[in-house]
Amino acid sequence: MIRLSPSILSADLYCLRDGIDRVRSCGVDMLHIDVMDGHFVPNITFGLPLVSSLRKHTDMELDVHLMISDPAKYAPLFVKAGADIVTIHAESQTETRETLSSIRREGGKPGITINPNTPLDTLFPYLEQVEQVLLMSVQAGFGGQSFISSSLHRLEELSLKLSVSRLDVPIEVDGGIGPQNAASVVEAGAEILVAGSSIFSANGGYIEGNIRALLDAVKQARSRKSREGP
Ligand code: DX5
Ligand code: ZN
Repeated sequence: MIRLSPSILSADLYCLRDGIDRVRSCGVDMLHIDVMDGHFVPNITFGLPLVSSLRKHTDMELDVHLMISDPAKYAPLFVKAGADIVTIHAESQTETRETLSSIRREGGKPGITINPNTPLDTLFPYLEQVEQVLLMSVQAGFGGQSFISSSLHRLEELSLKLSVSRLDVPIEVDGGIGPQNAASVVEAGAEILVAGSSIFSANGGYIEGNIRALLDAVKQARSRKSREGP
């Protein structure tokens, strides 16, 4: 099953509740929350209070992407605040293994991610420890960037690595995803598609139409796959 994880970074924050209700009523059950500290990446976004508030009001799976310099300190706090999945960057100067364990100890699902310029094998030591692998298809830091096409090859390689290692860990892809490339990323192995601007701001913010366009593109990929056979 392919899932969408809409990134609220591109939502109209004045009308956040409305945006979330609209994605929910389209059947989407996951929400991507980009946490940036102005240090690991140049941008500053959301923090713990937003996650606690969302937890009080929605049953959606809260998919928190930490782009911060000190995930060891904050990752467990995001689980306590109500995050379901907490994904950390392997590039952050931290004790990655211990941080992933601390997410699990608090009752969360740990995830690991890397930026497009980081060698793919940086992820490999953590694959057995996580419940989700996020592959960035833009440099972390801002919404609305263009998809980096070499990400398709990286998705295929990661997908192969997981299958030869017999690990059933879903791959999430993040950055520049829209109806124009959704089929390709799914064919390359992605199962969870993060989409910010293509859901919340494209076509004048017509969220329902944007979600339909993304899901239609995914369906095409699947029917193409089934026609081609295994
Ligand atoms: C970028 C963030 C993304 C971003 C995606 O650092 O991790 O989640 O919101 O935005 P779009 O879909 O607009 O590229
Ligand atoms: Zn993200």
